Amino acid sequence: MSDPATKPVCDLARLPGAGDFQVVDVFGHSLLIVRQTDGSVLGFHNVCPHRSARFATPGMSGSVREITCPLHGWSWSLDGRLKKVPPGWDRHLGAGQDYDLIRVATESRGGLVFVPRPGTESADRLRPQRPASNRMSGDT
Ligand code: FES
Repeated sequence: MSDPATKPVCDLARLPGAGDFQVVDVFGHSLLIVRQTDGSVLGFHNVCPHRSARFATPGMSGSVREITCPLHGWSWSLDGRLKKVPPGWDRHLGAGQDYDLIRVATESRGGLVFVPRPGTESADRLRPQRPASNRMSGDT
């Protein structure tokens, strides 16, 4: 029986290896669905936390070692933690500001990845836990 509070967005078979990703549009949001090195799947908003560029276009899929913004070249590890800022851009980092990717709730079952409808009990249940802060050196 289907759960109207969640929507299937991606077939897990399309993400067989670490770094495989797919861009999906669901509930008015563009999301990146990314296979992790431990085999799990995470979802992120398809929006750069720096200046809101889109990482990838709707329907795009592929495989990456890291997630890189096409606008200024900042990059994130597959789990969404800020990894690298090109030289010169570090002065643009706001002190104490968190630039990790914005996680979205996902659930894998029956060979599919589901995203909960915002505002539902499923969304509350699946709400992602924010990873430990990834502040850049020099921040307090
Ligand atoms: S907008 Fe993405 S790195 Fe600047």
